[in-house]
Amino acid sequence: MRIVLLGAPGAGKGTVAKQLTAFDGSVQISTGDLLRAAVKAGTPLGRQAQAYMERGDLVPDRLIMGMVEQRFQEHPGEGFILDGFPRTIPQAVSLGLLLKGLDLPLHLVVNLAVPEEVILDRLTTRRTCSNPGCNAIYNVKSNPPAPDGTCRACGCSVIQREDETPAAIARRLEVYRQQTNPLVGHYQRTGLLLTVEELDTAAIVKTIAGALATQVA
Ligand code: AP5
Repeated sequence: MRIVLLGAPGAGKGTVAKQLTAFDGSVQISTGDLLRAAVKAGTPLGRQAQAYMERGDLVPDRLIMGMVEQRFQEHPGEGFILDGFPRTIPQAVSLGLLLKGLDLPLHLVVNLAVPEEVILDRLTTRRTCSNPGCNAIYNVKSNPPAPDGTCRACGCSVIQREDETPAAIARRLEVYRQQTNPLVGHYQRTGLLLTVEELDTAAIVKTIAGALATQVA
């Protein structure tokens, strides 16, 4: 499957992507995870991206496109779930050209529509594995880490992300409304958009699987 997951910060893109990868071995490509790994490793990309991320602003399109193109070159597999990308209309246009060149058309664009009060609650209670090779996502209310505060998958420490301050969360939501939400209209025009309003992860995955079965058949 080749899917784009759209949705506000905290809508559950990463959580749903991880469950979808179990279906057919499609890979999750999370630009947020790739950027956080670059920041942690201190690469030139990470050094350029860090200040934007800490403020809750988007990293410039040219840096994101370079990173995504490199990711596709290194792992040219056919199935992918794009989590957090594209995030702007120029990124969506560049993605369209990139996939056309690779002859890998998208099957579905899923918009996770989650009320803002739920999002704020989820973002303040999220915990994330500190190991960039794992990136497991937890929630102190709905999906807690191990009792000793470590990751249940790899045993590493579980942390709160640096962009989870109240100021950065407010800025991320504002940036989402201004720059990313217009992608819903953009993809509606392609006929590929599925808006999902369920809040339960299992129900969301079931809805997406049903839509994919129709789309891929
Ligand atoms: P990124 O990492 O993509 O962050 P985001 O879009 O803000 O999304 P989140 O990771 O915060 O949330 P999510 O939707 O994945 O939700 P999750 O599954 O974790 O980007 C971070 C930064 O990097 C950006 O601000 C920007 O600076 C930069 N960046 C990244 N991509 C970029 C791009 N393309 N262009 C430019 N800049 C870019 O779930 C949230 C919480 O809710 C968790 O605790 C989870 O356990 C819980 N939860 C999830 N689903 C449910 C459910 N159904 N029921 C109960 N709890 C749930």
